[in-house]
Amino acid sequence: MSQDKLKKAAALAALAELETLAPDSFIGVGTGSTVNHFIDALARRGARIRGAVSSSEASSRRLAAHGIPLARLDEVDALPLYVDGADEIDHGFNMIKGGGGALTCEKVVAAAARRFICICDASKWVAALGRFPLPVEVIPMARVQAAREIARLTGGEPHWREGFITDNGHHILDIHGLAIDDPRGLETELNQIAGTVTNGLFARRGADVLLLATATGVQRHERQSFSASNR
Ligand code: A5P
Repeated sequence: MSQDKLKKAAALAALAELETLAPDSFIGVGTGSTVNHFIDALARRGARIRGAVSSSEASSRRLAAHGIPLARLDEVDALPLYVDGADEIDHGFNMIKGGGGALTCEKVVAAAARRFICICDASKWVAALGRFPLPVEVIPMARVQAAREIARLTGGEPHWREGFITDNGHHILDIHGLAIDDPRGLETELNQIAGTVTNGLFARRGADVLLLATATGVQRHERQSFSASNR
């Protein structure tokens, strides 16, 4: 099965997670090709939600094109769940995100949600994070200085994502060559670098549920039960 078909399967499986929500709920919606399948599936099913808080301009446009109402984060009282993809997810449900450059708003919406449902194909499931270059969003004037500091701190190689500007008007540095053994620690440390907006490690707020599409079907894992059964 192609990677895109697996992404679609994971996205369709996420619809079942909405069944328990009150019909007037808002949900958080992430960004990326897997989430695009989720948005399309949501529209086909007839949304049955009050609306969505989006994590990017791209997702907002897609939601609006389907007629799914959009709300700003400060307009909603609660977000029972957030659905998003990942570039990598490890066995502790820590993730690297931001391949599409929407990491900061994704982190903000994810932080506001009660549950994070990660939807992805099996290629994203890894024993340790770091093969996928870790994105860091920086303000433009800090880019060169932040890159030096990142290299010194991590031993990795920060590459400027040239020509790309985030929805917030910032630049992205992608750190190559990392083997991340302490995602939470690195997430915290990188955020101390002057001029950093945030980084693509989602460890302090990892996923709660993983819908992992494999060639034999979509597996559903909950973070707590998965960690317990793999000790
Ligand atoms: C967007 O900034 C990212 O965090 C995406 O969620 C992540 O890159 C997954 O993207 P795909 O679903 O396109 O693989």
